[in-house]
Amino acid sequence: MDTSKSQQLFSAAQQLFPGGVNSPVRAFRAVGGQPLFIDRGQGAYLYDVDGNGFVDFVLSWGPLILGHSHPAVVAAITETALRGTSFGAPSELEIKLGRLIQAFMPNLEMLRFVNSGTEATMTALRLARAYTGRSKIVKFEGCYHGHADMLLVKAGSGVATLGLPDSPGVPAASAGDTLVVSFNDIPALEMLFNQKGHEIAAVIVEPVAGNMGVVPPEPGFLESLRRLTTECGALLIFDEVMTGFRVHLGGAQALYGIQPDLTTLGKVIGGGLPVGAYGGRKDIMQMVAPSGPMYQAGTLSGNPLTMAAGIATLEELRNPEIWNNIAHTTTRLGNEVCAAAKDAGIKVVVQQVGTMFTTFFTDLPVKDWSSAKLADTSKYAEFFRLMLEEGVYLAPSQFEAGFLSSVHGNIEIEKSINAIKIAFHHLAKG
Ligand SMILES: Cc1ncc(COP(=O)(O)O)c(C=O)c1O
Repeated sequence: MDTSKSQQLFSAAQQLFPGGVNSPVRAFRAVGGQPLFIDRGQGAYLYDVDGNGFVDFVLSWGPLILGHSHPAVVAAITETALRGTSFGAPSELEIKLGRLIQAFMPNLEMLRFVNSGTEATMTALRLARAYTGRSKIVKFEGCYHGHADMLLVKAGSGVATLGLPDSPGVPAASAGDTLVVSFNDIPALEMLFNQKGHEIAAVIVEPVAGNMGVVPPEPGFLESLRRLTTECGALLIFDEVMTGFRVHLGGAQALYGIQPDLTTLGKVIGGGLPVGAYGGRKDIMQMVAPSGPMYQAGTLSGNPLTMAAGIATLEELRNPEIWNNIAHTTTRLGNEVCAAAKDAGIKVVVQQVGTMFTTFFTDLPVKDWSSAKLADTSKYAEFFRLMLEEGVYLAPSQFEAGFLSSVHGNIEIEKSINAIKIAFHHLAKG
């Protein structure tokens, strides 16, 4: 595969941007080689600047549930742009998208749009602290909630991929109020709440973890979180930035029937444009300025282009068949990966929820960060490179979710399965 133009651009980018990228995992460091520079995305495919095409299972890390350049999304952005790109004043589009989100997630009695998932989680925690008058927060090892100081503690995603310790630059005071528990560990959680429950403002959780690879909650885990937080007067925050519209049309809260107090969203609701949102119980949300004293603002929040792309995306998803088909295709792909691995004598565990999946190079189910870490990352790296050669673009890290879209059809799945068979065959030969 000729990647000479990408290589030239990467040299130039390295002079300008730390590591040559504007977000760490894009740099391919965990899998070796150099990142591809993308020229365009069309449907289920990414095309790099050298003209190579790939079936894309990253989809901008989840947002593109309708694939690249979906005609309805492109039309909505184009039409909206002709009337202006930002007003710094309210527009009806915000109400439309807000109502659409609410139709899928009725638990969000009120919400606020922001510009990224990081902003959403950071603010939801400020709000929880404002509401409860407490300062401690609980997060889970391997869960990633964006890069706010207090959340860069035992975080998954790029932090885990790069094997970074908790980031320098985070003041001890910021991280000191963050308590960390192992995902799915109910006894540890109970012990923590027994000791410190009255000091805890909120528990934030990826209800299906996606940032250590896909790790579903074990039966009783989310229920315990709900019970313990309610008993202690702490708030439960579901970070559905990734799982929203990905594990179920109503998010993990609908899939598992648990009502959090606050929810954070991002990715899919912006149809591929920068977005975040937080929302939930009205009595809590009314603490947000200007209706209440907790301050949060944003120059570009509720941006019309983002709102238009989000509306177009969620309008399509109102037809449940579209989402069901994506989930069905994801299951089919997962089954084929397992069958191919068995044939080749390769040990993998495929974990899938809805339209998200991870192929872990391990032989035991992954239920938390300790078990995720047992995966053979060098094997994954080799798998990633082989798949790229065969025209399939996977996440450049073992500890990430893969995503499907409505335009991943039979042709793309067949092509990917063939690629997987070839890659597994090579891996088996050692
Ligand atoms: C669960 C979760 N929360 C928060 C974030 C941060 O979102 P953003 O990258 O938009 O700041 C991410 C990003 O991947 C995420 O997966």
